[in-house]
Amino acid sequence: MKILVTGGAGFIGCNFIHYMKSAHPSYEIICMDSLTYASRIDALSDIMNDYNFRFYKVDITDRVSVFEVFEKEKPDIVVNFAAESHVDRSIDDPDIFLRTNFLGTGVVLDASFKHRVKRFHQISTDEVYGDLPLDMPELSFTESSALRPSSPYSASKASADLLVL
Ligand SMILES: NC(=O)c1ccc[n+]([C@@H]2O[C@H](COP(=O)([O-])OP(=O)(O)OC[C@H]3O[C@@H](n4cnc5c(N)ncnc54)[C@H](O)[C@@H]3O)[C@@H](O)[C@H]2O)c1
Repeated sequence: MKILVTGGAGFIGCNFIHYMKSAHPSYEIICMDSLTYASRIDALSDIMNDYNFRFYKVDITDRVSVFEVFEKEKPDIVVNFAAESHVDRSIDDPDIFLRTNFLGTGVVLDASFKHRVKRFHQISTDEVYGDLPLDMPELSFTESSALRPSSPYSASKASADLLVL
């Protein structure tokens, strides 16, 4: 089994990679990450030379490079963590959020479709559903709750979810 993880140098992605390597030592893991300010490449340094791990410094909005990696690696499963993820930054500079989170997801999705990937796993966020009142702990969201994003970050993630759907 070969799993391609985008955003694998990020906070959650690097922990996911370490978890998968220990739970499924026979899997090959391919990490694709553009190494933005948010990345933690050091978190992958202990596995960087493993025979069943490969790292590609690629921006998911770069269609040509993304398709090259898919052509070379032919992954079975894709897990799309790559995103601009800081809500406050999205209010100051929404453009990069729309590009990475929406258009970038579209590129990875298209490559997955064309290369007949068996499973595409999109990492979303609860923020697509908006906020719940703090004094009503009995309330919760479900996957059929209405989308009510309240920042460019959550709007870009909700848009990506709709594209994946
Ligand atoms: N951290 C949270 O609390 C939280 C909660 C809910 C959902 N999420 C979602 O989980 C995912 C991972 O979050 P995180 O906290 O690990 O984020 P993070 O910001 O720590 O990591 C994001 C990673 O994506 C990479 N990246 C950014 N733009 C890229 C691009 N254009 N091409 C390739 N790589 C790019 C960055 O270099 C970084 O390594 C995101 O999709 C986020 O929306 C996070």
